Order: sequence, then structure tokens, then C-alpha cells
Amino acid sequence: MKDKFALRIRKTQKSFIREILKSAADPSVISFAGGLPNPDFFPVQEIKQACTTILETDGPGVLQYSTTEGYPPLREYIAKRYLSNFGMHIEPEDILITNGSQQGIDLCAKVFVNENDAVLIEEPGYLGAIQALSLYSPRFLTIPLNKDGIDPSCLADICTRERIKLFYAVPTFQNPSGTAYSLEIRRQTAQVLQQYDTIFVEDDPYGEITFRTEPVTPVKKYLGDRSILLGSFSKIVVPSFRLGWICASREFMDKLIIAKQGADLHTNYFSQRIVFELLSNHNIDDHIAKIRNAYKTQRDAMIKSIQNYFPLEIDYTQPDGGMFLWVTLPDGLSSLKLFDQAIRQKVAFVPGTPFFVNGGGENTLRLNFSNSDVDTIDRGMKILGELIKKMLT
Ligand SMILES: Cc1ncc(COP(=O)(O)O)c(C=O)c1O
Repeated sequence: MKDKFALRIRKTQKSFIREILKSAADPSVISFAGGLPNPDFFPVQEIKQACTTILETDGPGVLQYSTTEGYPPLREYIAKRYLSNFGMHIEPEDILITNGSQQGIDLCAKVFVNENDAVLIEEPGYLGAIQALSLYSPRFLTIPLNKDGIDPSCLADICTRERIKLFYAVPTFQNPSGTAYSLEIRRQTAQVLQQYDTIFVEDDPYGEITFRTEPVTPVKKYLGDRSILLGSFSKIVVPSFRLGWICASREFMDKLIIAKQGADLHTNYFSQRIVFELLSNHNIDDHIAKIRNAYKTQRDAMIKSIQNYFPLEIDYTQPDGGMFLWVTLPDGLSSLKLFDQAIRQKVAFVPGTPFFVNGGGENTLRLNFSNSDVDTIDRGMKILGELIKKMLT
């Protein structure tokens, strides 16, 4: 049958990163390609103990169907953490537990985006969001990301020119660039958005992975109910549980719950119970501190090796958190060509073009620093540096 697939799926690209990850899966490859948290910090023993406890104390209960909204004590925990971390007053009813923050993006798209609606995303933008949103056939507009965030006056121009239905952004240690909006830009972004009818979807899976001493406050604190904030346990506990959340006002929440019911009834209840048990009996802040220290050391190693091995003509971000760093090669150099050569020498990264919805970015690339130790970073970056220098001559 011709046209057997729906237009929405025919128009959506396969995830380029998944394809790249296949070539990087060979254990002999030094991979800066994936976005994997460091498994050394997965709390395996603690999870084992939590499983035993919940099965012994509430065996049948933890294996039963549950509510769409999620496990109430877990929602309460998340709400309280917004208060203790950022002084944000969030009610447990404002939290919907999701299948990772990725599902949060999908549900927001489902609830708000009609075909051809104007959706604004950062450039470069998070690939998983580009893919999730693409399935709802929006018209993508982009706003460039500078080293300290977007330009709020550019945002105001776009919002004046176009009726932006939804603005999706990762203001804190963005994937792919590692960029964080400055405090001033957070405030100004909120001020601009207050004046328009745009829904701001703020995806924040990396906020807790900060190398700064002060917490990085979500834009939602300044924007209030007009913002929908997405969070995740993937980077601070484990990604395999697929646990995240949406923080939204009651008006939005009712519709998000309907969309979630239609999608999967509820998020895996067993993993919600395990995580809550874990959070109740262990100091998550100590655990997060270990992750931050390790990633900071790895980021330092990556920056040092850029300075040691890469030619002076390249540009790079110096993230204060998260898992990624973004490199811009001199104009005319292709990161896809660099990838072809690097993979032959068993080094992988993600070329930048898929992060640009409307084309461009041929000379950019994303490097992950969270999943390689310092020596491996040094070896891999040396190879990349030599290849870039060769391409330049
Ligand atoms: C910006 C961003 N949003 C969402 C996700 C998905 O995270 P989760 O595992 O919570 O679904 C990722 C994963 O890498 C990400 O980088």
C-alpha cells in the first residue's frame, strides 16, 4: 500500500545519534558521542537494598497498577526539593511523574502543538526534542544560542513577528552546547515571555549537575505559571528507570494528565517506589556531590586537552555543568568528514548538523565528557586534535 505510514512519521527523521552510537558501541572505540552518565556512580547496592525493602514490606502493592499522576510521596519529595534548592513554592499536585523528561517533551507537544504551529527552539537544539516535536508537524523557528544564553531582544523580535505557540529551551547546561543562561538573561527571558501568549517549556535534566557553588535557578522561578518545567532522575540516580517529571500549573496539568493516560496509563510504579525508597534512606546530596566532582574533573581534562592538542583557530564552550562541550571548527571544515576519519582511528563524537533544524552547523560538533576517564579523554582528544590540524593544512 502506498502512503501506508502517517505523514507525521514519514516527515520525522531517524535519530542520527542512535545511528552514530551504533558505530561507537564497539568497546575499542573511545566514544565522546553518547550522552551517557558515568556508570561508576550508579547506586547498585543501594538499589538492590531498596528493591528488597519494598518487596518485603509491600510486595503485591509495589507490583500493582497505579495512578497517572505518580506516587504521591515522590511528587511531594520533588516539590519540597524545589523549595529547598531554589525557594520555589511548588505543590505536589503540580508534579506529574513521567517516563523520563523525554516523555515530558512529548506530552507538551501533544497537548499544545497543532500542525504548522510555530515552535521556537534554540540553535543548536536538543535532538530528542526536535524529534519529539517533529512528530506533531510544527513549523520550527530557531533562536541562536550564545555563550551566556539567548539574546532576549532577539526573542522579543521573534515573538512580535510570529505567534510562537511554544518555546522549548534547555537554559541550564544545554545539550548539545553545555551553555547556561546567565541570571540576567533568565530574568529578561521571563520578562519578554510575560508579554506574549507563548508557553515556555523549560527542560532541566542537568541543573543539579552544576560545578558552581550557587544553585542555578530555573527560569520558572521568574516566569511562574507560564512556564512548564521538566525534570529527570536520569542524571542523578539512573537513566534506566526512565523517571522524570513535569512541573506545571493546574490548568496545564489537567490536559497533561489526559495525554499521559492515553499514552501509558502511568509511569513504571515499581521504579517510582525504588527511587523514593532510595531518596528516603540515602543522602542524595552527597551522591550528587560525587557526580559533580567527577564530571568537573573530566570537563577540566577535556578543556586541557583542547588547549594542548587542538589548533588555536577552533572555538569551544567551557560549561559549568552538565555533560557536554561544543566545538566550532574554522569555517569550511566539515565535522562529518572529521567523524569519518576519527572513527577509523576509533574515536567517536556527534557532528553538529542534526542539532540545527533549518540547516547549518557543518563545522560544529558535540563532545561528551561524563562517560570517559581522564586518560581516555587525553588519548581520544589527542587523536581528534591531530586530525583537525591535518584537515587545516
Ligand atoms: C536536554 C535533554 N532533555 C531530555 C533528555 C532525556 O532525559 P530522560 O532520560 O529524563 O528522558 C535528555 C537526555 O539526554 C536531554 O539531554
